[in-house]
Amino acid sequence: MSDKTSDIELRLLLEGIFEQYSYDFRGYSRASIKRRLNQAREHFGCSTFSALQERVLHDSAVLPKLLTYLTVQVSDLFRDPAYFRSIRELIVPHLKTYPSLKVWVAGCGSGEEVYSLAILFREEGLEDRTLFYATDINPEALKNAEAGVYSMDRIPLFTENHRKSGGKSSLSDYYTAAYDAAVFDKSLKKRVVFSDHSLVSDTVFAEMQFVSCRNVLIYFDLDAQDRAVGLFKDSLVRKGFLGLGAKESLRFSQHSDSFSEFVREDRIYQKRGAS
Ligand SMILES: C[S@@+](CC[C@H](N)C(=O)[O-])C[C@H]1O[C@@H](n2cnc3c(N)ncnc32)[C@H](O)[C@@H]1O
Repeated sequence: MSDKTSDIELRLLLEGIFEQYSYDFRGYSRASIKRRLNQAREHFGCSTFSALQERVLHDSAVLPKLLTYLTVQVSDLFRDPAYFRSIRELIVPHLKTYPSLKVWVAGCGSGEEVYSLAILFREEGLEDRTLFYATDINPEALKNAEAGVYSMDRIPLFTENHRKSGGKSSLSDYYTAAYDAAVFDKSLKKRVVFSDHSLVSDTVFAEMQFVSCRNVLIYFDLDAQDRAVGLFKDSLVRKGFLGLGAKESLRFSQHSDSFSEFVREDRIYQKRGAS
């Protein structure tokens, strides 16, 4: 089959998923979506994207599995510790000036990023005044995020990351071991609202002081990235912070003028005063 035919079929597959299930992957970076849908196609034993389209349109049970291919679920607690060190040392002093705080973790995956921030905020004395919103499009990931249970064999890396991020306590204070699982303390999520939200099709959140969205925009094309950054801009208070992490930037964004660079290497931006 020619590349052109397979591209047409891919486009129709994404269109079908959108029309039938309202999951909109049409604005995702095509090369990586194609690679991942090719893996899905093989998994389902389909020879073409059209065959896969037929499967998913006629059997809704196929969708959750397909979502595991369409959304990448790699994460760790205190992933890229330098980012969390910058938040701790450079952003927290500003956040301390607010009597109450709202923090949005967009594309929270299985929760590692929001638990990292909840631990950091507790260590810095900000937890009681903060409400976290942790959002994602993948229901399975959100369910895992709410559970807060991670395999014990991931704990050495999590512990090392926490230490490198400037952690002020022992990570073991925040979980209990149950056989081969680490169950994170329920109290960490008492100020977290987990919810289904898509950066490509849903609307803004109100009055956030800090938005953290890492390793999500890389999967979007430029228009979808602009839409998401527009949401962040409209969701943030004046002088609020946007953390994208080292892999992403606002360099090509149509909203770049609305932000100033606050921590260059970790791509933490501050919304400008007037906008
Ligand atoms: C690689 S994970 C990033 C997890 C975490 N932020 C981190 O950096 O460790 C990417 C996440 O983005 C989510 N995602 C993909 N498209 C999305 C969208 N349109 N809106 C919100 N989240 C999305 C995926 O489901 C996945 O959980």
